[in-house]
Amino acid sequence: MALPTNGTTADESRLDWNAARNLLAGLPGGGLNIAHEAVDRHVAEGAGGRRALISLGKRYERRVVTYAQLAESSSRVAGVLLGLGLQPGDTVAVLLDRSVELYQAAFGVWKAGGVFCPLFSAFGPGPLRSRLELSRAKVLIAGRSLYTRKVLPVRGNLPDLEHVLLVADEPDAAMGDHAGCRDFRALVVATAPAATVATTDKSPAFVHFTSGTTGTPKGAVHGHGAVLSHLVTGRQVFDLQADDIYWCTADPGWITNTACALILPLACGCTAMVDEAEFDPRRWYGILKEEKVTVWYTTPTNIRMMMRYGAALARTYRENSLRLAASVGEPLNPEAVTWGDKALGAPFLDTWWQTETGAIAIANPPGHGKPGSMGRPLPGVEAAVLTRSLSKVTVVDDPETVGELALKADLPSLFTAYVGDPGRYQAAFADGWYLTGDLVRRDADGYFWFVGRSDDMIKSAGHTIGPFEIECALMEHPAVAEIGVVGKPDLLLREVPVAFVSLNPGFEEGEALRLELLYFARQQLGSAIAPREIQFMDSMPKTTTGKILRRALKAKAVGEPDEDVVVPQGAHPGRFDDE
Ligand code: PRX
Repeated sequence: MALPTNGTTADESRLDWNAARNLLAGLPGGGLNIAHEAVDRHVAEGAGGRRALISLGKRYERRVVTYAQLAESSSRVAGVLLGLGLQPGDTVAVLLDRSVELYQAAFGVWKAGGVFCPLFSAFGPGPLRSRLELSRAKVLIAGRSLYTRKVLPVRGNLPDLEHVLLVADEPDAAMGDHAGCRDFRALVVATAPAATVATTDKSPAFVHFTSGTTGTPKGAVHGHGAVLSHLVTGRQVFDLQADDIYWCTADPGWITNTACALILPLACGCTAMVDEAEFDPRRWYGILKEEKVTVWYTTPTNIRMMMRYGAALARTYRENSLRLAASVGEPLNPEAVTWGDKALGAPFLDTWWQTETGAIAIANPPGHGKPGSMGRPLPGVEAAVLTRSLSKVTVVDDPETVGELALKADLPSLFTAYVGDPGRYQAAFADGWYLTGDLVRRDADGYFWFVGRSDDMIKSAGHTIGPFEIECALMEHPAVAEIGVVGKPDLLLREVPVAFVSLNPGFEEGEALRLELLYFARQQLGSAIAPREIQFMDSMPKTTTGKILRRALKAKAVGEPDEDVVVPQGAHPGRFDDE
């Protein structure tokens, strides 16, 4: 079947998802499983010797893994999990850096019929505990030192967690004794490969926690059927072919890694580049060039960091194999788009999606991108601008009108539930639309432009942070009487979380307490979401109904009087009324 490409005209043919289903192999005995589509299928089709992964450790330890090797090792992982008594639908949490073991674990969980729940290594014990609790993970596969520092302190509070499998920090290191844990690598070697459990499109495959403005983090569940979206978007957005080397830099724990580093490249049968290390401009340019990366997917924050090191450095690596570069997670400024072209020989194409959509939904077509825009809905994605009132939604057809971005709820990759919260799930839909919470406008050519969020989410380095989670953590400090957290604009990271705090009697404002609170938050929450600044307030600005007035705190964070805070034109009616 020929796929409609991400073309340039408004009347391009829609993709029929039912017909596209023929692109998938399906399990030999019937059913659908991500691991079969992304790994075993290629082996069955004779491509077992093709490279699935090129992985670099922090000290450039290079491992090349073929599709046949990944098929076998992930089947062994499935054998380990089934041997531990994993039942279909049980959750396996994974706390690993970008590594071969992350791939073995994910595909092994899917083969065993489990639900993969990756956790972010920069989270502290607090967010890890809440995610392990909410997902009711039965098994945890973790890096040894990550586990010791971040999970061991809260393990006693996790009654559902029955088994912990640890991966030694060095590939050849012996694990040694670790109470109540087993050695992942040793078990995998010693266990026979298991047959893939028969799952279907609807069987839950992975859960990602995304922050909410209130309440606990929301666990968005995705089914095995999502693999169709990844195969299709891999072709439509990146035109991935078997000889491509594709590098997605996302951190495990965020859906971009699961969807676009684990599933998408392998579903398309190409080679995924995996780098364990954190951002370093020379390392990254070196990888692009030496490993002959052809397609690169990263974030605006990373691009801005590279830009800081200058185009001259980039140009020394210009002799590269890149044919396409793209970005996601936050708006990509037009300068970054053109900088990519000048410095690396490939413009950055912006793409848009979110945890709930599960896959890329809007993207700039290669050769027809509009710098600064999110792009156009992919064939197969129906997107609209809506206005919402309490009881109904109205589609706005006029170009350039600001409203909420909504997607027709027929995408194979769309989330299927929020863990344990059907009410919250239902509230995300209206009249057959999934409501994204993003404010956008669409121009006359059908390109979408990001205006802002309709809620209080903070976007830092491409990661979505809920103020509520930070507020809850800091409320546990005895000095804190009240707290409000907002995002403060930041040139590099786009926003950083800032906490406004009023104190309990007996505590005094001052540098010592400020540092103590910053340290306390970092210990609890980890570096990814801890606030960067604490500001003391005598009392919190409140609404008449007693809720903290975040708008006033946001104005204070940027040093502006409250009335100067810009509320995006066309924001939800009543949006700020009861703040
Ligand atoms: O606000 C939008 C922003 O990131 C949100 C999704 O974040 P998350 O659920 O963590 O998903 C991560 C996977 C992409 C969106 O609701 N966002 C994402 N891409 C863009 C963007 N904002 C502007 N431009 C984008 N290209």
